[in-house]
This record gives sequence, C-alpha cells and structure tokens, in this order.
Amino acid sequence: MDDIQILIVDYGSQYTLVIGRTLRELSVRNIILSPKKASMWLSKNTPKAVILSGSNYSVHNTDAPDLPKNLDISGKKYFILGVCYGMQLLAHKNGGKVDRPLLHREYGGAMVDLVKKDHPLWQGIENKKIEVWASHGDTVRKLPKGYFTIAKSSGISAMSDAKNRVLGIQFHPEVNDTKDGKRILQNFLDLAGCVRDWNPTNLIHKIQKEVLDEINKVDKKKNVILGVSGGVDSTTLAALLAPVLKQRLVCVAIDTGGMRENEMQELKLNIKKAGIKKLVVVDKSKEFVENISTTIHGEEKRAEFRKVYKKIFEEQIKKYKAGFIAQGTLATDIIESGKAGESTMIKTHHNVGLKWAVNDLHPFRDLFKYEVRELARALKLPSSIYERNPFPGPGLYLRIVGTPVSKEHLQLVREADKTVTEILKKNGLLKDISQLVVALLGFDSVGVKGDERVYGHSIAVRAVQTVDFMTTRGYHFTPEVTNEIISALTKHKNIVRVFFDMTPKPPATTEFE
Ligand code: XMP
Repeated sequence: MDDIQILIVDYGSQYTLVIGRTLRELSVRNIILSPKKASMWLSKNTPKAVILSGSNYSVHNTDAPDLPKNLDISGKKYFILGVCYGMQLLAHKNGGKVDRPLLHREYGGAMVDLVKKDHPLWQGIENKKIEVWASHGDTVRKLPKGYFTIAKSSGISAMSDAKNRVLGIQFHPEVNDTKDGKRILQNFLDLAGCVRDWNPTNLIHKIQKEVLDEINKVDKKKNVILGVSGGVDSTTLAALLAPVLKQRLVCVAIDTGGMRENEMQELKLNIKKAGIKKLVVVDKSKEFVENISTTIHGEEKRAEFRKVYKKIFEEQIKKYKAGFIAQGTLATDIIESGKAGESTMIKTHHNVGLKWAVNDLHPFRDLFKYEVRELARALKLPSSIYERNPFPGPGLYLRIVGTPVSKEHLQLVREADKTVTEILKKNGLLKDISQLVVALLGFDSVGVKGDERVYGHSIAVRAVQTVDFMTTRGYHFTPEVTNEIISALTKHKNIVRVFFDMTPKPPATTEFE
C-alpha cells in the first residue's frame, strides 16, 4: 500500500513542494529529491514516473543543475514530465534548442492553445484555450527529433515524444492560477498508471512506525522531547506520537513572552484534548525579551530567538534525559528556510536546521499545513485544533517591526491583536481568513485626540487567504469592518494610525519579518 510512485527532481523552484502536495491530493505518494539524491534513489528504486521541477537557472548557465546521473530519459523505464526548467532541460539534453527570445518570455498569467487537443495530457479539459501561470525567460525554440508540439502560447508551451511517455510543459500546472493544472497532473498520473492509494490513516501509521523504528534503532529507552506551541502542527504530532511513545514522550511548552492573549491557557487545553497526560510548562519570557530587544532587524531577531529557544530545549533535554527531540516542522518551513533540496532562503524559521546534541526528528517535514489538518481530523482531534490558524513560533516578536522589542510594545500588539480578532469573530470573518497579522510599525506620528496633540504608534492590520502559505492573497475588509477596526484600535491612547496591508505573497510574505 501507498508506495512512492513518483519521483520529483527538485531544481530549486519555490513550487516544487506544491507539485508534491497536488499529487498527494490526488492520493499518489511521491518523493522530492535534489538531482544528486535522486540519482542515488533511482539506483535502488523504479518509480512509475519522474517529474523534473522548475528552476531559476537557465540550461546554458555553466553551473546549471543537471539531470540525475541515473535517470533514463528515453521514456522506456518510466514516464517523464518536465515542468518549466524541467522541460527545457529535457529538450536541451535530447538535442532540441533552448534560448531566451524577448518575445516569448512569460511572467504571470498567459493563454495557452492546446493545439493537439486529443493528447492524453489534455484529456477532459473543456476548452482548447486555457489560462495558465508561467514564469520563464528561456523557451524551447526547437524540439528534439521525434517530439511534437502539443500546446502553444507565444512559443512552444508543451511537447511530447511520439509514444506520449516523455512530456514537457512550459507553464506551471501545480500553481492554483493554472485553472486546469490539477487535471493535467491527474492525466499524467493516469498515463503513468499510478494507483490512488494515499490516505491520512495510512500516513499516521507510517509516521508512527518511522518514528518508532528511528528511535529504537538508536536507543530503546531514552525519552523524546516534543516542543508544543498549541498550534495544529505540534498538537497533531503530540496526538500522533502519544499512543506509540507513551511515557517516553515529554511535551514541553515554552512561554516565550511572544504569545497572544490567553494563548498558554488554550495550549494547555488543546494538549489535554490531544490525549497528552504530561505537559511541562517553562516560563522564559524574561530571557527572550532581554535577548531579542538587542536588535530590530528581522533576521537578527530570528537568530536571537533561535539561540534562546535552542538553549532552553537543551536544558529540558538534560533534565528529562531525552535522547531525541521532535518538532512539528512542515515542508513550507523547510523550503523558506532554504533547507529543501536546492531552494533559496527566504526566512530562517526558528526551529529548522538547528544542530542538536541529540537526534532530531521532523516527522512532518514533507507535509503541508492542509495535510496536517487532515491527520488531525483522522486522529479525531476537535475542530478548534484542526481549524486553528497558524501563528509563528517567534510570535509577537515578528510583529514589532522596525523598532526595538520591549515588554510594553509586546503588550501593545497583544492588545491590538485581541481587539482585531474579536471584531473579526463578531463579524463571522475568521473562517474566511487563513491568517491575521496585527503588527506595530516602527514609527510614531502626530495625531489628535480630544483636541490635543498626541505623538503615537501605528498599527498594521493584514489578513491573508491561502491554501498552503507558499502564496497568499491579501483580504479586503468591507468599509464597515475597516472602520470598526480603526475605531476600536485608536481608542487605545497610544495608537493614532491604522494601516491595512493587502499585498499578496509574493512579493510580500505573510509576516512582516
Ligand atoms: P511567511 O511570513 O514566510 O509565513 O509567508 C508563512 C507561514 O509561516 C509562519 N511563520 C513561521 N512559523 N516559525 C514558525 O513556526 C517561524 O519562524 C515562522 N515564520 C513564519 C507564518 O506565520 C505563516 O503562517
């Protein structure tokens, strides 16, 4: 059951993990590896198909990442689909021509004509012209011998070999904005004969077994420390590990001083609901504030947070004689920390890439948020857990922007967050929003309150909608809700201005830093 059927070779595109996620949504397990690791994997495994991802490189760069050494691109062993750079690489290696004509560059939305409409890759797609999302400078100008064009835009948009086994698409089928993208990937899976056998219950058992095997291989007795934040990832991981690790599992919650109003109480309740008997709570707010207040730069703040976070967990590891530390790190955290295969660093997540003296476990490292929510449902956790919006580990520290962190500033954003959350709750908007960010901006300005001049703070309100946090859309409040938020926030004596940030990701990110 649920064997790995697809190998995805990661050339560093921000969307590689989205391909993996889409295939899992179609119930097909897959593995994402860098070209080097893919080559090693292929020496022992034969997938049903291989997908080559996009990349920032041009095939003509001297340091352009190559095909995995062991990859057979004849199409005889397995089906192959090249996406964007993947297609260019296939064409280039098979004797085609790739170049960079100004006319054929596409960034964002594009219309594609499915010129060979009866090709199996386009099966079930209603229209001959489809809307896609593309991002490329290079283009395949001349197809390799024996290949034909199956879709066109300003250039060749998709190609196929004569047997329909080696395929290339210039646009990104994995991105939501390619309306028929999922259908195209589904058609590719059908072509390759993939079986739909992935489901959350299987995955729970698989992760439980993997963790048990991994820790028993090292030490059959030592405890496992699990950092819990009360959020969906760590709570689900705790609920998943509790039945197999039993008393060896020590859940630790740190009060970092960056938590929202009532968050620790909610955390305790959620952990109880997840079936955890033993929870250790350590209050380290003073230590975090003291260390983080030394800097205002986002990445330096994150670095300080990581340092203190690591030190505290090291103390707990010693105290509870643990041999392992487990964390609910997700694929997105790993991608944006630049630790996934070849992708570039966007932000240093507080718990990714830390070097521990004990063995570290990241059982959710290949999963996306929505998948963890599926696991939480399958584990029968209450909806307050699986519907919970994410909140960053460094918490409110990331929401004091461009000005030093202090206890007062933390209290101000905490109150502002509570005020806005209550308004959204009252207006029934929380279910429409994937994440709310209320931040203190680092400049004061002049205001007038009760006929008096005040020099006060500015608050930014940002609500986003997203499926996987790789891309997000800014949420537009109605004028009534906007006014209600402004009026409630400016009641605070030190707040004089409220800004609303609707910028999508990219180019912005969800959090300000
Ligand atoms: P960005 O701001 O990168 O955030 O678009 C994507 C999602 O990740 C959360 N986030 C973090 N979560 N530690 C975390 O546990 C972090 O350092 C961190 N940084 C961002 C963010 O709140 C959003 O849900």
